[in-house]
Amino acid sequence: MNQFSKLLPLAGDTPAYLGLAHGIRVMVMDGRLATGSRLPSERMLAEILGLSRTTITRAFGELVDSGWAVARHGSGTTVRLPVTDCTPTHSLVPTPRHDTIDLSSAAGPAPEGTADLVRRALDWLPTTLAGAGYEPYGALHLREQIAARYTARGVPTDADQIVVTAGAVLAISVALHALARPGDRVVVDSPTYPGALSAIATVRARAVPVALDTSWDVSAWADAIRRSRPRAAYLISDFHNPTGLLMPTEQRAQLAKLLADAGVTPIVDETVAELDFSEADPALPFAAVSDDVVCIGSMSKTLWGGFRVGWLRCPPRLVDAIRRQSEALSLGPSALDQLVATTYLESPATIHAAVIQRLLVGRSTWTSALAERLPDWQVPTPPGGLSLWITLPARLATELALAARAYGLTMAPGPRFSPDRTHTNRIRLPLTLPPDVIDEATVRLAAAWSSAREGSSASMQLDALAL
Ligand SMILES: Cc1ncc(COP(=O)(O)O)c(C=O)c1O
Repeated sequence: MNQFSKLLPLAGDTPAYLGLAHGIRVMVMDGRLATGSRLPSERMLAEILGLSRTTITRAFGELVDSGWAVARHGSGTTVRLPVTDCTPTHSLVPTPRHDTIDLSSAAGPAPEGTADLVRRALDWLPTTLAGAGYEPYGALHLREQIAARYTARGVPTDADQIVVTAGAVLAISVALHALARPGDRVVVDSPTYPGALSAIATVRARAVPVALDTSWDVSAWADAIRRSRPRAAYLISDFHNPTGLLMPTEQRAQLAKLLADAGVTPIVDETVAELDFSEADPALPFAAVSDDVVCIGSMSKTLWGGFRVGWLRCPPRLVDAIRRQSEALSLGPSALDQLVATTYLESPATIHAAVIQRLLVGRSTWTSALAERLPDWQVPTPPGGLSLWITLPARLATELALAARAYGLTMAPGPRFSPDRTHTNRIRLPLTLPPDVIDEATVRLAAAWSSAREGSSASMQLDALAL
């Protein structure tokens, strides 16, 4: 609840109740307060902020009148967005230029050494070609290697608990098909990985957002679970996409208990868990604190996204259901891609070190280029992961993304990472690009940012004239 103390000081010259209503709206738009969250009671908020009950009552009234909250007798005041989601699902702008830099995806080229790996993998080809090639749950040798890696991290795992899929997104979908029915709720962080939001939409479940700012808020999770009675939860506890945050071990244990007590199955996506460039001791894997978790893994970020190999580690009670869904959705992953994955897992160290080095270079290049050209952007230093979750000094992320197209940039504005289209002051930048491309992208971003700002002040002037 103490996030509400940050509402002070209230904005400018307006009466206090308007300043407070404005502050709450900003929290929603920044994604610090998820839509659907309940505001503290009037009495409690008055105490937290040292304001009168009348001011709080009038501020809540203002939020309700302007469509930013609903008040229900007996269940308090809940925040929401005043309009339905109008975000276009198709591009509004012409086809990008031929020299477009793609900032929207955090995927890079295959690391050095990949071609050798593929050549070594082909040694297995004669044996593979002698079989029918279908392995609905994945080749046994690969499943054994994946299971052994979990066991080595302190989570004893049998190869039968592993189901290999054509990538992690399919693995998330398989898990959701096994766990959720249309209309069920799935609690997610806001922001979160957009591919998971699409997978949730595909099973016609509803994503319930819990705001994630600088750390996980266990009490907000408890509130969302009480409110929405979800079937499952989707989490990225290690080097979260897009923020790069790492969930501390105590919070994993608290969340695991909360979910277990409520009968909610966590789907924990560890696709980026090995992209660790912190010097800190690794946190305990989520499966070490939860018996009933579905873990998702992938080769896409430690090796290359072009090899479509991901997997699920299932709790024993779900193995059959997950196998059935996986077989129904695809007859299993590519035999050749699995050969490459198996060969990689035999000795991943050199390629892994090269991938980490590339991300570190990406992080420092972005940091210095942005400090020089866009010094009022807040740039974090994440301990791992694929991206920088940037805070802009104005809520113009979508305007920036639109302006950027004219400068040959495609990019991922904050609202794309949240089911309620908030985070309008955020963008995600990928660490996976080479330094010269990052430098050029920053020059274009600075130009696009000026256009977005000019466009927004022009439209504000028009609004003022219209009034
Ligand atoms: C958290 C997370 N999960 C899954 C994926 C997609 O993985 P795959 O290419 O294996 O489908 C990504 C890609 O960026 C990701 O960041």
